[in-house]
Amino acid sequence: MTYSEELAVVETQADPDIEYEDDDCDSLFSVQTSSSASSIARSHSELANYRIENNRRYQSFREGKWILPNDEREQDRYQIVDQMVSLVLNGDLHKSPMEQPKRILDLGTGTGVWAIDIAHKFPNCRVIGTDLSPIQVPAPPNCTFEIEDADEEWVYPPNYFSMVHTRHVMPGIADWYRFFEQSYRVLHPGGWVELHEAPHRIYSDNPNTPSDIPLMRVCQRFSDYHASMGKPCGEEVFEFKDHLEAVGFVDVTETRYRIPLGAWRGDPIEREIGRYNLLNVLEALEAYTLALHDLGLDDLEEARDLARKAENNAKNRKLELYCYLVVIRGRKPTACEALPNVPRA
Ligand SMILES: C[S@@+](CC[C@H](N)C(=O)[O-])C[C@H]1O[C@@H](n2cnc3c(N)ncnc32)[C@H](O)[C@@H]1O
Repeated sequence: MTYSEELAVVETQADPDIEYEDDDCDSLFSVQTSSSASSIARSHSELANYRIENNRRYQSFREGKWILPNDEREQDRYQIVDQMVSLVLNGDLHKSPMEQPKRILDLGTGTGVWAIDIAHKFPNCRVIGTDLSPIQVPAPPNCTFEIEDADEEWVYPPNYFSMVHTRHVMPGIADWYRFFEQSYRVLHPGGWVELHEAPHRIYSDNPNTPSDIPLMRVCQRFSDYHASMGKPCGEEVFEFKDHLEAVGFVDVTETRYRIPLGAWRGDPIEREIGRYNLLNVLEALEAYTLALHDLGLDDLEEARDLARKAENNAKNRKLELYCYLVVIRGRKPTACEALPNVPRA
């Protein structure tokens, strides 16, 4: 069943466990009209319109919104990152306590790898993954995909989802505060927003590592470019916790996981994580530097030269480099919690 078909069902059989507001019906109508005509049809027409530059393929829907490629090579990198994050989080797909979620929204789903895993974990839960690129792989019946820009007004009704999730989408969103407000609206009371994001920064444990090595410069240029476009993707991630609280979420936590770049320290698992991260960074480097070249920021030879030097940095264990994965989550209060004068049970 597609998302639009499901909404038609929701419209006639309101979920008895979810209290919709009076104006929810209006939202359902507007979702039906906008969704059915747009996203699915759009994905087909735009398949043929990919942009090819320097042998890499880029998305065309909202062109330029996401500057990295969407080709198979990049999709393989998502797979590497998925393995790495799974090791970092001890095999957990999420850290929020969720027992029987009804619907989950995964924004910036990429190939849909996380959405598919969570759909397998909760076979009675409806999972919707959305992305700018129609690159999703076949999924179980309880998981479907839509082509949508998460930075625009969301088409989903209020109180609809048990979880809103993102992973590594940060440079694609301009207004994170609005993103959190929209998450609050579409979550049902007690539902969770959970973000697995990474600041585009490389850190070092070695005081002798200069702070402007080529690898750090590539990241800096990438985040400077995004900041200039109004899409911060550096340490602004550490402000998300405050934003979530300001929007009204409770039980908000932020956990920072240090991810070594290469197998330069730790137990066998940490070394394995480091190897995955090295693979990820080596794969990403060309994409990052070519993207900056395509934007007119670097000459092609300069870009390739910077990438080569940055690769050498990434492989150099003596530099003791690492990055962060940051897991931020918060819960939408229940009706009782949201009304301070109502005595709690
Ligand atoms: C690094 S990939 C991560 C994919 C997936 N979340 C994962 O962990 O495997 C980021 C994805 O976010 C998508 N994206 C970026 N900005 C977006 C936006 N504004 N709306 C929807 N998708 C977006 C990109 O197209 C890309 O597929």
